[in-house]
Amino acid sequence: MKMNFKNRDIVSIKDFSKTDITAILNYAKHMIPYAKGEKQIDILKKYILSSLFFEPSTRTRLSFESAMNRLGGRVIGFADPSATSQKKGESLADTIRMADAYSDIIVIRHPQEGAARLAAEFAEVPIINAGDGAGQHPTQCLLDLFTILTEKKRIEKNHIVLLGDLKYGRTVHSLAYALSLFGAELTFVSPESLKMPKEVINECKEFGVEPNSTVNLDKAIIDADVLYVTRIQKERFPDAEEYNRVVGTYKVDNELLKQAKKDLIIMHPLPRVTEIDPEVDATHHALYFKQAFNGIPIRMALLSLVLEGRKL
Ligand code: NCD
Repeated sequence: MKMNFKNRDIVSIKDFSKTDITAILNYAKHMIPYAKGEKQIDILKKYILSSLFFEPSTRTRLSFESAMNRLGGRVIGFADPSATSQKKGESLADTIRMADAYSDIIVIRHPQEGAARLAAEFAEVPIINAGDGAGQHPTQCLLDLFTILTEKKRIEKNHIVLLGDLKYGRTVHSLAYALSLFGAELTFVSPESLKMPKEVINECKEFGVEPNSTVNLDKAIIDADVLYVTRIQKERFPDAEEYNRVVGTYKVDNELLKQAKKDLIIMHPLPRVTEIDPEVDATHHALYFKQAFNGIPIRMALLSLVLEGRKL
């Protein structure tokens, strides 16, 4: 298959066709032994990655950096913008111009929706969006799809329940789109005030998917194949009282799981706060830590496709 990823910006999952996504997922499978360090390769040794995190991150930043290192590349960057000239009032555009001059690819996470798109306008080198406010999180979406495909052998025809903060959660905005592209069956479960935005629901409908929306998790879980749990995105609430009203609405615990299918898998982009009881970790349903590992082979696949334009 002809791969055409070289120098592409990865800003939104909507930038990819189904064929693109399938190619990345297939390639990521071959990256697993390299991601685990069982095999070695240095195809990216001539490249430097800028890792620009304007918002907190554990998995996304560390797995991008690990992926780049595993492929022989090097990483510069920051995890705290207050230690950069942003603190002196430098604009995002100027910070991006500098990373553009100092490296070959830029990974950016920023609290403002649209920040990665803006960065792509100021940089010659490819930009990868590692999360822009409540907007998109395309690489998380790819690793989520990879996890579903690996565990369920297909993406389509699964009943997938997206739970929690569907209004501000960027991971579910990307994922609802991609799952619809593949023809999964979708149920959205959230408090009334945190429902999936209309634009995202309309995108799903364009692919012929009619998502159900409900506040009732007990019912939705009964015939779910995948339960994708999200954290209430406290930092995006304009009003702390509004957050206090919804925090703790849902809790996934062993009692709830008695009603679930035996082969239900539970996913979460992490970090979790209170929405999954740690007692669930020991059940065969819990997939979230394996899901987090999958960030490495997916990001290795993407970095090598965007920088080298080819597979191993
Ligand atoms: C998510 C994010 O940053 O959007 N985390 C991640 O990248 N794995 C989810 C979250 O912060 O709740």
